[in-house]
Amino acid sequence: MTGVTGVTRDACPLEAKSATVADLAGRNAQGDAAIMSQGQGRHTVRKQGGLAALFRMDLRISRGRKCRDWPYYHLDLNAGCGWNKKVDCPGSPLTFLEVTQDVDRSGPIWARFCDHNADYVKELKGHLAFAVESLSDGSSLGVVCQDNGLFLQEMAWQIRQEQQHRQLRPEWAIGTLLCDPNGEKDMPLGQLRLFAAEFPRIDLILNINCNLFRKFEGCKREDNHLSPRQKESFRKKPTVREIIASLGRKHWYIRNPPPGRVGSESFCLLFGQTMSRHGGKCFKDFFPVESRQGQDILNNLRHIVPEQRLLWED
Ligand SMILES: C[S@@+](CC[C@H](N)C(=O)[O-])C[C@H]1O[C@@H](n2cnc3c(N)ncnc32)[C@H](O)[C@@H]1O
Repeated sequence: MTGVTGVTRDACPLEAKSATVADLAGRNAQGDAAIMSQGQGRHTVRKQGGLAALFRMDLRISRGRKCRDWPYYHLDLNAGCGWNKKVDCPGSPLTFLEVTQDVDRSGPIWARFCDHNADYVKELKGHLAFAVESLSDGSSLGVVCQDNGLFLQEMAWQIRQEQQHRQLRPEWAIGTLLCDPNGEKDMPLGQLRLFAAEFPRIDLILNINCNLFRKFEGCKREDNHLSPRQKESFRKKPTVREIIASLGRKHWYIRNPPPGRVGSESFCLLFGQTMSRHGGKCFKDFFPVESRQGQDILNNLRHIVPEQRLLWED
């Protein structure tokens, strides 16, 4: 493997950690003790399981006859430190790299991870060392300490160069872009829009803070219970519908948020593609946003119980 940026080989390999992506499904089903916050609870394990499913699906599709030798680009805009210590499970960069080891693909993996926290970046470089030897020839990994808006601009430039070098058009670039912020402020929307328009075949994965976006929606309704100060600050914020409509992907899927008490913290994944590979059908607990269940989730940003709802169908 070549072109490794800032990743050393002397750190602990993933196999030595106590939980790997393969464990996630089982732990998700058991439901660990609930500590209900992003990055710190059983929902983290569930999130990594959902991410692994999306990464695996896209990597498998990238083995198609036409594109199997092309680079697979992966950008993680809010990479974190690589390991969720409180719940002892991998973070999104390790989840991605572990999936690349399961999915045998002839073309190179070109992955870049960004976080603006220098301590996290240092720790992440150590965690990623396990992948250095195992990726296919020509693959490259990079860890960048930067604001993610600037990172996106630079990555767009690098992808253009890489495509040009391989005599491929930039708009043919395939891969995934993950944006997993704590709140909407960590999501560089302007840069995301530009990037998404330039690279239509790079699929978008957003992890949305349901509570926060419910408040943004709520302040636009008459019957809201927000204080005047909150209303003032939330009024200018985008809704989830506005965000996905602005990102130029025709097909969006929304994952059922985890069940929980009203008011408890919850996040849910959105997955956007230019060309649908599911024919508008649900997969796992992802629903097309235009489906009845998808609309239900989008309207309320709460867990739905699809089986129960079927009892009330016409
Ligand atoms: C929810 S955590 C990410 C968790 C990680 N994706 C995982 O699965 O383990 C959000 C991360 O975004 C980073 N962050 C926040 N604002 C950022 C910005 N403007 N640019 C880059 N990173 C940012 C934070 O330092 C934090 O590590």
